[in-house]
Amino acid sequence: MKRRGDKIVMVTSYDAPSARLSDAAGIELVLVGDTAAMVMLGHDSTIPVTLDEMIFLTRAVTRAARRPLVIGDLPFGTYEISDEQSVGSAIRMVKEGGADVVKLEGAGRMVSRVRAIADSNIGIMGHIGLTPQSATKLGGFKAQGRTADAAVRLVEDALALEEAGCFAVVLEAVPAPVAARVTQSLSIPTIGIGAGAGCDGQVLVWHDLLGLYAGRTPRFVKRYAELADEIGSALESYVADVRSGAFPEDRHTYSMPEDELAEFEQEVAELER
Ligand code: KIV
Repeated sequence: MKRRGDKIVMVTSYDAPSARLSDAAGIELVLVGDTAAMVMLGHDSTIPVTLDEMIFLTRAVTRAARRPLVIGDLPFGTYEISDEQSVGSAIRMVKEGGADVVKLEGAGRMVSRVRAIADSNIGIMGHIGLTPQSATKLGGFKAQGRTADAAVRLVEDALALEEAGCFAVVLEAVPAPVAARVTQSLSIPTIGIGAGAGCDGQVLVWHDLLGLYAGRTPRFVKRYAELADEIGSALESYVADVRSGAFPEDRHTYSMPEDELAEFEQEVAELER
């Protein structure tokens, strides 16, 4: 697709219904992102989510997504210690979660993890720029690569990840000209999030895209629906209907034959005597 100049579409997914809808929409890449920690599990950051939790969510997605490539995100603490640890986590994600490939964040020391995973015949996606798992070290959720030196480092990191075996790299919160330059330098695709139109593809978080997340959304998010509002008013109508007796109506209930009903009432009346 990169060679043809066809844009690649990626979205996050954490359950079977969203995976089924993404598949039906013709989306190429589905990421079971560790953003699940925030949008699904109610944490303040991506740090607390465990590998077991990510595998549980990935299994639901892989059951429903037939055509898209499913990427299982390796959460914080499951690959930093050693190459062996990273390969063990990637194997679990593929074997138990059913993910087609995995993703991890960072370059530098993580390049060796990427190489170890790729050498184990598991496809691996990189993720540089704003890497939420190291947001504290980066000084918060801030755009990256905004000085010439930092931008050059991003190009170097991306090249190192490609050389180590990544099949694609996510560029998060990076100035558009820098992301476009990284994209030109690589033969593998770049998938941008807050990185401008010059990337080979784009990714958005399911809840951000659909207006389902009540927390702060970054400026790079485009909302294509306001489903939280729709769900809110649907729930208010349901509450009002139950309280007023407007729901359920006859058409929402089951009937029984008249003679069975008469016999039932007679038997209960005898029981109560
Ligand atoms: O975890 C995630 O959802 C991600 C995307 C923001 C790329 O890494």
